Amino acid sequence: MTVVKVAILGFGTVGEGVYRTIQSHAEELESALGKKVEVAAVLIKNKQRERNIHKEVLVTTDFEEILRLPKLDIVIEAIVNREPTFTILQKAIERGCHIITANKEMFAHHGKQLIELAEQNNVSVGFEATVAGGIPVIQTLRQLLKVNRVQQIQGILNGTSNFILTEMRDKKWSFAEALLQAQKNGYAEADPTNDVEGFDAFYKTMILSRIAFGEEPNWQEVEREGITSITSELIGAAEKLGLRFKHLASISKEGSQIKGTVKPVLVGNENPFYHVEGVENAVSLHSDIVGRITLQGPGAGMFPTASAVIEDLVYVSQNDAIKRSFKSTASAAVEQSKVQPKEFWLVTGLAKTYSNPSITWIDEVSKGVFVIKASKKDLEKLVKQQETIFYFSILGEYEPAIASTEEKVSAL
Ligand code: HSE
Repeated sequence: MTVVKVAILGFGTVGEGVYRTIQSHAEELESALGKKVEVAAVLIKNKQRERNIHKEVLVTTDFEEILRLPKLDIVIEAIVNREPTFTILQKAIERGCHIITANKEMFAHHGKQLIELAEQNNVSVGFEATVAGGIPVIQTLRQLLKVNRVQQIQGILNGTSNFILTEMRDKKWSFAEALLQAQKNGYAEADPTNDVEGFDAFYKTMILSRIAFGEEPNWQEVEREGITSITSELIGAAEKLGLRFKHLASISKEGSQIKGTVKPVLVGNENPFYHVEGVENAVSLHSDIVGRITLQGPGAGMFPTASAVIEDLVYVSQNDAIKRSFKSTASAAVEQSKVQPKEFWLVTGLAKTYSNPSITWIDEVSKGVFVIKASKKDLEKLVKQQETIFYFSILGEYEPAIASTEEKVSAL
């Protein structure tokens, strides 16, 4: 029987998960591919560390040694950082290998170039593991929604942030305690700044944009904010109102423009994201024929990510990926309203004595934490004058928790 020879680059949480899954699901892989899958090589950084890898596998710190193997079909990349990863994957493609990557940052920056190079070399690129861990959102977009025009995608795309927000609320942990646990569980990036400052979710959003709309917004114009301004006190105030903080990415096509935001928002019980807890991710796809589809599942961790890679292994082996890698730019546009509507916001750092006709005071939730109604534009103007203000959008209809809006407004 022919054999598919695979190299795994990196033996951290993801690399090891992939290695172990190739062993544990050998039969399923063989029946899906009609071929045995064999790990021929593993690229590591540190030779001293003990690893549970079969003796026949080439374990090396030198990628060139892997490239010199007489037969190599697929290179699976589970390292971090843009370089040397991008260069290594270019060499793998030029050598005639399909590639599979779990590296969001590298793929957001260089995905387009890798796919073009793969096209020239008649090989495929799998990148399911770059977005939303084990949730097959990339395959859903490229395989199952080929005719639908995607209008908007919203999602909780960073498992670490969602885990931290959940544990701060549920177990009353501090931010630091929750982050430490996320690191112990293998959810966080090597540099967790990428998780908690929203960079990781931003890269994932850009990858989704390219696959859904065939293009990305100008990166500089995407509002990106992490979860570090969310204190236990704010989480408690939101809870009093029946609201939860969720770190939400959103990307849509408005007219000919792609608009994106990656930031924390507040949602109520009626919102599907309210129930997405812990390391779970969820992605809601809004398309013109089908309407809204929401996919939910584990967004990080060893085996959820390995699941995405292993399914890609079958996909790229079928060598059918290239033409459907990225959609054409013809997507349904969301109608753009000219008038900026007034929305509800949870704010801190705004003096109660502040008077401005464009802002309606609704509720004082706890000391110094208010619910107001204002347009985003007016609020942004205000923040320019007073940098101590933090504000979070409350999605959907806000219903005052204690008294009616009128009573609260007059009380203030
Ligand atoms: N650090 C990432 C997260 C891993 O927490 O979502 C999965 O991409």
